[in-house]
Amino acid sequence: MSVMEPAQKPHDRLAYALADDMAAVNHMIRARMASEHAPRIPEVTAHLIEAGGKRLRPMLVLAAARLLGYAGPFHVHLAATVEFIHTATLLHDDVVDESARRRGRPTANLLWDNKSSVLVGDYLFARAFQLMVEPGNLRVLDILANASATIAEGEVLQLTAAQDLATTEAIYLQVVRGKTAALFSAATESGAEIAGGTPAQVKALFDYGDALGIAFQIVDDLLDYGGSAVVIGKNTGDDFRERKLTLPVIKAVAKASPEERAFWVRVIEKGQQSDGDLEHALALMTKHGAMEDARADALDWAAIAQTALKALPDHPLRDMLSDLAAYVVERIN
Ligand code: IPE
Ligand code: IPE
Ligand code: MG
Ligand code: MG
Repeated sequence: MSVMEPAQKPHDRLAYALADDMAAVNHMIRARMASEHAPRIPEVTAHLIEAGGKRLRPMLVLAAARLLGYAGPFHVHLAATVEFIHTATLLHDDVVDESARRRGRPTANLLWDNKSSVLVGDYLFARAFQLMVEPGNLRVLDILANASATIAEGEVLQLTAAQDLATTEAIYLQVVRGKTAALFSAATESGAEIAGGTPAQVKALFDYGDALGIAFQIVDDLLDYGGSAVVIGKNTGDDFRERKLTLPVIKAVAKASPEERAFWVRVIEKGQQSDGDLEHALALMTKHGAMEDARADALDWAAIAQTALKALPDHPLRDMLSDLAAYVVERIN
């Protein structure tokens, strides 16, 4: 066990409770990110993986498996798998979003180049598939392979919805469910499945991960406008620059006066942005209560996540997962 004291944040309490398992996961990640033949691979992966990250998705796998009484060892493989899939998508996402900061560091696409990020991302995806086969469980393989396809689908849907002011909250939800929640729900569902959970337990953990992931991404989108770049470790304003229709923008556009609508058409549809536009967008979102309304939606999803947990046995990890759902809405990083 770690000598770390149990901390206040649910995320830290989970890390404390799962410290031994997480050490095994981190060990496996380091062992599997190596490549004998192409030194660029460990350079790029180490840059991103050693920068940390919250390790939320692997903890979800471990917590789901442990709370259903699983004694190991394959939850570790699955946890490493989801973190590899996550890392691969981050490498690709930062190329697509032309982002310059990630986890408090310059992005790999900035330090190396887009080609390295795309190819090393592909390598990590392939490593994830090697890892997910090792437990020898077809159901788990099905869950993780499907999630990989769904994430890519979500990112492509977002690409085609960007710059389109007609994007609805329903389309936004579809994007977020795909690009983010699919990996959260695959993490909790595969953890439940490897533990031999009943169909009702597996479904409860899927539903928890799905709703948690949606709440998480809504808040990530709020932080892109209202967060502190130092605290989130990414640059703010990326979504505005990329002309993405995230939830607070959709809500502000829905309430726009004709004059405000002309502003949105210029900056989002035409992409004619200049100094002060980001601040004006923020002022419009504040004026229409779009930030609070989006936060209220995130809280609703967190509540759905918590309700799903009620179908699961009484367990300290269940309580931590419940607290985590509330925390992802309050988080500032
Ligand atoms: C970033 O996820 C990508 C999104 C889905 C918003 P995290 O915020 O979990 O990233 P790390 O792993 O902690 O850096
Ligand atoms: C995160 O998308 C989802 C994936 C990486 C698949 P975003 O583009 O919204 O996340 P950040 O803000 O770059 O972390
Ligand atoms: Mg991005
Ligand atoms: Mg993106």
